[in-house]
Amino acid sequence: MKYKLKNFFIDGLKAQNLAKRYNTPIYCYSFKKLKENIDEFKRNFSYFKPLICFSVKANSNKILLKEMRRLGLGADVVSIGELMKALKSGIRPNKIVFSGVGKTMHELNYAITKKILLINTESKSEIFSIEKIAKSKKIKVDIGIRLNPNTDANTLSQISTGKKENKFGISEKMFLNLVNYVKKSKYLNLKCLSVHIGSQILNVKPYEKMLKVLDKIIKKTHYHFEYVDLGGGMGINYENNNKNLDLRKYSSSIKRFIKKHNSKIIFEPGRSIIGNTGVLISRIIYIKDGYKKNFIILDAAMNDLIRPALYNSKHRIIPAKKNNTKSKKTYEFVGPICESTDKFLTVKKFQKLNEKDLIIICDVGAYGMSLSSNYNLRPKAIELLIKNSKVQIINKRQNLKDLI
Ligand code: LLP
Repeated sequence: MKYKLKNFFIDGLKAQNLAKRYNTPIYCYSFKKLKENIDEFKRNFSYFKPLICFSVKANSNKILLKEMRRLGLGADVVSIGELMKALKSGIRPNKIVFSGVGKTMHELNYAITKKILLINTESKSEIFSIEKIAKSKKIKVDIGIRLNPNTDANTLSQISTGKKENKFGISEKMFLNLVNYVKKSKYLNLKCLSVHIGSQILNVKPYEKMLKVLDKIIKKTHYHFEYVDLGGGMGINYENNNKNLDLRKYSSSIKRFIKKHNSKIIFEPGRSIIGNTGVLISRIIYIKDGYKKNFIILDAAMNDLIRPALYNSKHRIIPAKKNNTKSKKTYEFVGPICESTDKFLTVKKFQKLNEKDLIIICDVGAYGMSLSSNYNLRPKAIELLIKNSKVQIINKRQNLKDLI
């Protein structure tokens, strides 16, 4: 993804041509970037060759999941829907882990029937539910227990998951009790300790703290966990300011951890694999002078990308065609939805824009399409994958008729 002679290209294809051909808004992904991310992820952790289970909630497009499967990834799922989609994408059950605080009996039953690698349990009642199913089937089910390590991930409060006050995982005291219980169960096989402290983490310190907590607790259990699932959460560089998470430092800390505990490592990355592979191409419908700023009204809205409205997160916006000008006005990029939070970004000194110009919203591959909705009865955008300079429609634009 780069500019060539002032025009924005996605792996050899001009954004403007894609917009002409497929209409806007478009979610457009780069296969090249996806492969680079996965290669780099693997390279950083090559010392211990973790099982990398892509967190399907970040992006559940079937074709993308298939590509990731071909590149060696498994899946981390949190619902029967995600589990079915992962299986349908050809991901083998022995590379699938199932997390979530509220798995129903129906979901647990399905996961058990499919013989997935692990069900990472998050409560005593869930453990009892699995035991009940296993007993009725006269089998032994492999489980993990998710610990709440009470570690601050230093990220947005809305996407923190590892602190005392969060609903996720099990307290240390309960964890120790449950390990003892499961150890003795005829129907459960305790294979894994899992954690996930939050998302968009840019500093390695919270991870180091989390590993210390795990170290202490594992020692207390006197139990050997075949797997330690460290979750995901690795942050990406949305603001293009080189504030990246130092994966090599994280890797070194894990190396030291493994030397003590000799467990296989599982990761559940979402954003760090898929986040920067996708852009949202959108056309300006109108430009309107406000009291203090100019509203750039796009044909993409918060139903297509809710992250700015929900978390106040900033996605860079760049022009599809550079014109080497600088506007004196402050631009506020907004969508057409009837909510004041339907805005993407406020920018000063952007290039001068005109109605019908195309803009690119960056780094929307994770939690973009997967969090999209039909709010205001707007059809969901088309998704394209560019691979070897060829376009593939990987999800059709939703049909208005189906919505009505
Ligand atoms: N594992 C578990 C148990 C999780 O809950 C999550 C994310 C992940 C893995 C993947 O985390 P990642 O590597 O993508 O950070 N919608 C929010 C993010 C919510 C994350 C929820 N859990 C956003 O758009 O920022």
